[in-house]
Amino acid sequence: MKNKNEKMREIMALAPVIPVLKFDDPRIAVNTCRALVAGGLPVAEITLRTPAALDCISAVIKEVEGAIVGSGTVLTANMMRDCYEIGCQFMVSPGVTDDLLAASQKIDVPLLPGVATPSEAMGLMVEGFELMKFFPAEQAGGSAYLKALAPVLQGITFCPTGGLTIKNAPDYLDLPNVICVGGSWVAPATAVEAGDWDAITSLAAAASQLTA
Ligand code: 3PG
Repeated sequence: MKNKNEKMREIMALAPVIPVLKFDDPRIAVNTCRALVAGGLPVAEITLRTPAALDCISAVIKEVEGAIVGSGTVLTANMMRDCYEIGCQFMVSPGVTDDLLAASQKIDVPLLPGVATPSEAMGLMVEGFELMKFFPAEQAGGSAYLKALAPVLQGITFCPTGGLTIKNAPDYLDLPNVICVGGSWVAPATAVEAGDWDAITSLAAAASQLTA
């Protein structure tokens, strides 16, 4: 677990924002991730919310130089196995189950598990996790809620995700228990559908200037 925590922390330290992405088409995935890397956001979470998600992840891993690609919305052990087989560098889940934790223990790829309460975080601390996604961040209590967890859940570092924007991201990044944030705002569906890669690079460039 120590090595996986270290790997996950290294990935999360690469940029202040992890784009949360959803694609139907590998070509669009490749172009979007190239635009994000060009803007200074090399880490990407591609969610398993479309039938083409695994193909999109594979294409980005193979074709986008400098990208660190993880899978998101990993809900089951089978989904985790699929992501492992195509070479994802990390995985993100909105919560955990016993099955998912058992599957995670069998692979050397780090999982960033989602939590929304102190009890959930404490359960994962027992399993050895030091890094967690706080999800859904804005809806679950926002930066004030996460700030209140810092003195009690010492040693746990979060990536808040859900409802974040360029405006509220600094409130989270200022917290001592936040290393980076996640969000879809850097690759809005309108820009992706229009093939406006320059717009995505500009949004990524602004996001990459945020500091944790
Ligand atoms: C996630 O998938 O982690 C979140 O749904 C992303 O949330 P956002 O679209 O509000 O950034």
